[in-house]
Amino acid sequence: MSKVIKNGTVVTADLTYKADVKIDGDIIVEIGQNLSGDEVLDASGCYIMPGGIDPHTHLEMPFMGTYSADDFESGTRAGLAGGTTMVVDFCLPNPNQSLLEALQMWDNKTGKASADYSFHMAITWWGEQVFNEMAEVVDRGITSFKHFMAYKGSLMVNDDEMFSSFQRCADLGALPLVHAENGDVVAAMTQKLLEAGNNGPEGHAYSRPPEVEGEATNRAIMIADMAGVPLYVVHVSCEQAHEAIRRARQKGMRVYGEPLIQHLTLDESEYFNPDWDHAARRVMSPPFRNKNHQDSLWAGLQSGSLSAVATDHCAFTTAQKRNGVGNFSKIPNGTGGLEDRLPVLWTKGVNTGRLTMNEFVAVTSTNIAKILGLYPKKGAVLVGADADLIVWDPARKKTITAKAQQSVIDYNVFEGFELTGLPRYVLSRGKVSIVENEIKAEPGHGKFVGREAKNPVNRALSQWKDIVAPRKVERTGIPATGV
Ligand code: URP
Ligand code: ZN
Ligand code: ZN
Ligand code: ZN
Repeated sequence: MSKVIKNGTVVTADLTYKADVKIDGDIIVEIGQNLSGDEVLDASGCYIMPGGIDPHTHLEMPFMGTYSADDFESGTRAGLAGGTTMVVDFCLPNPNQSLLEALQMWDNKTGKASADYSFHMAITWWGEQVFNEMAEVVDRGITSFKHFMAYKGSLMVNDDEMFSSFQRCADLGALPLVHAENGDVVAAMTQKLLEAGNNGPEGHAYSRPPEVEGEATNRAIMIADMAGVPLYVVHVSCEQAHEAIRRARQKGMRVYGEPLIQHLTLDESEYFNPDWDHAARRVMSPPFRNKNHQDSLWAGLQSGSLSAVATDHCAFTTAQKRNGVGNFSKIPNGTGGLEDRLPVLWTKGVNTGRLTMNEFVAVTSTNIAKILGLYPKKGAVLVGADADLIVWDPARKKTITAKAQQSVIDYNVFEGFELTGLPRYVLSRGKVSIVENEIKAEPGHGKFVGREAKNPVNRALSQWKDIVAPRKVERTGIPATGV
């Protein structure tokens, strides 16, 4: 049964034009004028855009002694409700655990996903087994590897492990990702704050100033450059990290930066709220920053030095957050945002003139599809692409409330935000999954999306690395030794 989205305006990363879009099964089959089909979806007054891709989620993730509360069922449903039709989640092996075994565990969580998904693999330890298994992980369509430079004593890897892994990524044509914070400095500052009795949620922000992020970002960039591999920096929250990325890109390095919708729109004053729960609910790493940093992130999206807006959706209930009463370092780190990313970015970005509609599509969908090797299957309104589509009504309004959200947690960090611009329809591979407030998402509909390694940027870097590789100088007249 075919469907036609009629009377709308197609908005992609580079074009805006009036057209109907016809879908057969999972796929866009025709784009043109006066199309007909078995079912008509009316897009009068609306924009037809590629579905959002959230490259950074943690669904049902074991972390800091608990599990993040949204799983693939509620997480993908929340995403769809806000126009996100694909998530890329992180598979985290335990120390000494096989990457393939961890992958099996992550795969087991996805049965009720209602939107498509992929994985990044985390490198949480290093050894011959990890080196070998990385090739198999790539063969299974997982072509990006995450490195935590923070969370000392659990997920953190040190510089020689990171350099080894980056070189392996270069060989395999994969993309390394980093959570860039100097974990040694954070651990030392945390200890000092706690010893001084500074144990509330504001201590979390004090323990992770922008400098720890700027330093680690620069270090990761330099290590990636020495390994001859592109680099993707997750949750860029501050000018210091953005500056390092900007500088690197200006020098021709292939570095991508990902700001979160939270850091763009929420600031550090949240941690000084006298209500412990309010502040703790907003504890995440890196922490929220001040307005100057927010302006820097917006400028990065405008100028192209930052590439993709994500959520790092890692939702914990208030009860879980209370594990850290009396010790901020035990508050599970993470906030939600899957349902809110697109409408909040539209309201605060497009409706204010900070972003064009085409830039909105680029930073919510198309750029990351290209970086991760998903394009044009995802991130595009093109014949042959998956019919992951949003019919976006720029006039629809709502006020964000935890009560009405799809996430299972009991609060929303954007509570009270007044939004203008929301989906009328959201389609996941042709399935109408959202009709305004009505949820038609189908648990189990979501499929794993494998990706190809060795994208053009990887290939170009490898080629250049070969040309400039160290070469022994053949000399004549070598002086005799030992005389
Ligand atoms: O605080 C955060 N960001 N929690 C999720 C894990 C991570 O560091 O991305
Ligand atoms: Zn992180
Ligand atoms: Zn994360
Ligand atoms: Zn289905």
